[in-house]
Amino acid sequence: MGKKTDTSVRDLLFGDTWEYAPAPQSSDFVDIDDYYGHFIGGEFVESEASFQTINPATEEPITEVGEADEEMVDRAVRAARSAYDNHWSKLDGKERAKYIYRIARMIKEKARDLAVVESIDGGKPIRESRDIDIPLASAHFFYYAGWADKLDYAFPGADVQSLGVAGQIIPWNFPLLMAAWKIAPALATGNTVVIKPAETTPLTAMMLAEIIDEAGLPPGVVNIVNGAGATGAAIVEHDDVDKIAFTGSTAVGKHIQRSVAGTDKKLTLELGGKGANIIFDDASIDQAVEGIVDGIFFNQGHVCCAGSRLLVQENIEDEVLKKLEHRMSSLVVGDPLDKNTDVGAINSREQLERIKELVGAGEAEGAEKFQPGCSIPETGYFFEPTVFTDVTQSHQIAQEEIFGPVLSVLTFRTPDEAIEKANNTAYGLACGVWSDKGSKLFRVAGALKSGVVWGNTYNQFDPGSPFGGYKESGFGREGGAHGLLPYLEVR
Ligand code: NAI
Ligand code: MG
Repeated sequence: MGKKTDTSVRDLLFGDTWEYAPAPQSSDFVDIDDYYGHFIGGEFVESEASFQTINPATEEPITEVGEADEEMVDRAVRAARSAYDNHWSKLDGKERAKYIYRIARMIKEKARDLAVVESIDGGKPIRESRDIDIPLASAHFFYYAGWADKLDYAFPGADVQSLGVAGQIIPWNFPLLMAAWKIAPALATGNTVVIKPAETTPLTAMMLAEIIDEAGLPPGVVNIVNGAGATGAAIVEHDDVDKIAFTGSTAVGKHIQRSVAGTDKKLTLELGGKGANIIFDDASIDQAVEGIVDGIFFNQGHVCCAGSRLLVQENIEDEVLKKLEHRMSSLVVGDPLDKNTDVGAINSREQLERIKELVGAGEAEGAEKFQPGCSIPETGYFFEPTVFTDVTQSHQIAQEEIFGPVLSVLTFRTPDEAIEKANNTAYGLACGVWSDKGSKLFRVAGALKSGVVWGNTYNQFDPGSPFGGYKESGFGREGGAHGLLPYLEVR
């Protein structure tokens, strides 16, 4: 660790002075069943077909999970329809809120179990699942519980009505958190839900099913079906679903958009990104370096709003890169359950292959690759934090989402050039701007075609703050009062 000693960055030396002793989070107390099916109409049901979910840090199977076919999806939609017609849509907002608050509190009570299982099933560092994913998931339920009896105030003077059955499909990068982002606003607005977790990370969703069951939510209000793309497609194509909410790849998002075209299904899509993290020469450089690290190495870079393109002002490029490369050499890559781990396991073998392929493309196109030489475990899916310099706008690694711990660095001279380069992708989900000058920060932020712009920080989330994209990053907002709209008819 910390081999690249340089006197100009002395104040950032940590790894040179000591090694961290292992600090494993115990997992003895978590109970993982041998099989998880689906949660339909308030019951846990099995299906014939099944698949395994594995631990990406060890490559070992964790448990068996049922795979829902069209018939099973239909059963879930019928349960959701019946719960909507007979009960949920007629319930007072104040009463809906009580259930949602209860779910929020129970997530808090079971936070330790949920965090450990999230890290085992998906590979993210325990520090992140413990301090970010699980608390935020609970916070989303708290936040939307608060809206349930105040919908008339969210849209003053308008008549608001729920839609019916919401079909929701979520990805593997923030499994429980994405379930919360989808389920909480749907329930608050009086809709019922059929949701499908991602096939590599179904476990915390099934723990959420247990919480929902224990919370006494009326049967059928939330239904959870497991499976891969075909199960997701069966939800999208079901005639009796009124709304589709999808988070995932742009390719699948486009496919979904085509398949709901010509129907009266409402649609929101939260797709990929290629966020620019823009560092001006008047920024606090050490703080910005932390922001760059957080922007791209948080959750192994499996983040749709990751700051995966660093735009650094040309006159400070050397200093920023020197400090960044040095900081990277102190990153701890490895066991997700170790509390010191900064970068955990890549979520799946497929994702690891995708990352390697795009890194290969970067090398082939002539960009300069830097890796700090961190030690990484021999088994499991791991990828060393990587930075590419000498990247140009036309490089594949400057345009395509890598969804891994890989940063592409470009330079600029003027604010206008920064804006133009930042906007020059098919995406528009998130950006960061670092500057000491408030006026510059706000002018640049206002010119970025991006759903979220962070100023002198990165990857900050709050349930009260709307999140969503421009262009091929999708449409519709999640979070905040804006996040109610996709689940309501407002007249
Ligand atoms: P994906 O888009 O295939 O998976 C996301 C979800 O969609 C999963 O639950 C999956 O089962 C479901 N799904 C797949 N095909 C479907 C279909 N035809 N109809 C309905 N649902 C379907 O993403 P994948 O293959 O896991 O990752 C590929 C790339 O997508 C990543 O490398 C990354 O660039 C991007 N991605 C972006 C995410 C984001 O948060 N915006 C999340 C996950 C992936
Ligand atoms: Mg897994």
